[in-house]
Amino acid sequence: MSTAEPATAPEEEDFPRLREMRWWDIDPVLVLERTLFPDDAWSRGMFWSELAHARGPGATRHYVVAEDAEGTLLGYAGLAASGDLADVQTIAVAEAAWGHGLGSRLLTDLLRAATAFECAEVMLEVRVDNLRAQRLYERYGFQPIGVRRGYYQPGNVDALVMRLTDPANPAPSTPESEPPGHG
Ligand SMILES: CC(C)(COP(=O)(O)OP(=O)(O)OC[C@H]1O[C@@H](n2cnc3c(N)ncnc32)[C@H](O)[C@@H]1OP(=O)(O)O)[C@@H](O)C(=O)NCCC(=O)NCCS
Repeated sequence: MSTAEPATAPEEEDFPRLREMRWWDIDPVLVLERTLFPDDAWSRGMFWSELAHARGPGATRHYVVAEDAEGTLLGYAGLAASGDLADVQTIAVAEAAWGHGLGSRLLTDLLRAATAFECAEVMLEVRVDNLRAQRLYERYGFQPIGVRRGYYQPGNVDALVMRLTDPANPAPSTPESEPPGHG
């Protein structure tokens, strides 16, 4: 090996890479979506509809994908803004990639987008039995504020509603945080 050649190509450090989700990502996104949300996967039309509001002046959506060096989709996430309120629409990481910080990177990206949309608050719903996702949100300072009964159909699973104030300065919650409310 020549001495001029670096031991590790710099670009190897840059993956998984985050970039804007485009319409041609919908097919691979749907494969992950159906694997990770078998009971209530979004349809192709729902993703098309979201992406239709993600570009140009007046855009109200921000969608991002994460891919490895070969271009394989590892995750995706989306946010909707309405006035000064934003909603985490979705966030998902391929199971093989869990636990390496990709979910955190996607959430960080969404919170940056919420700040760019000038939103003062970010809301989300998460299945009450999805403790892994709840831990991720709690680390960013999301607080449980209520429960939506039977929000996830057809399984009739309740949703925990969580809120983050000031997404520009996400602050991790302490272990002494209030327990979840009951809507
Ligand atoms: C929830 C979800 C997005 C989390 O993705 P992820 O990539 O595993 O998230 P992270 O790696 O950032 O964090 C997960 C854990 O790994 C740890 N971690 C973060 N970075 C790490 C790193 N570099 N090395 C090792 N561990 C790390 C985190 O501390 C966290 O630990 P905790 O669960 O004890 O708090 C993923 O599990 C998923 O897609 N689930 C299915 C879909 C879903 O439920 N989506 C949410 C719908 S509301």
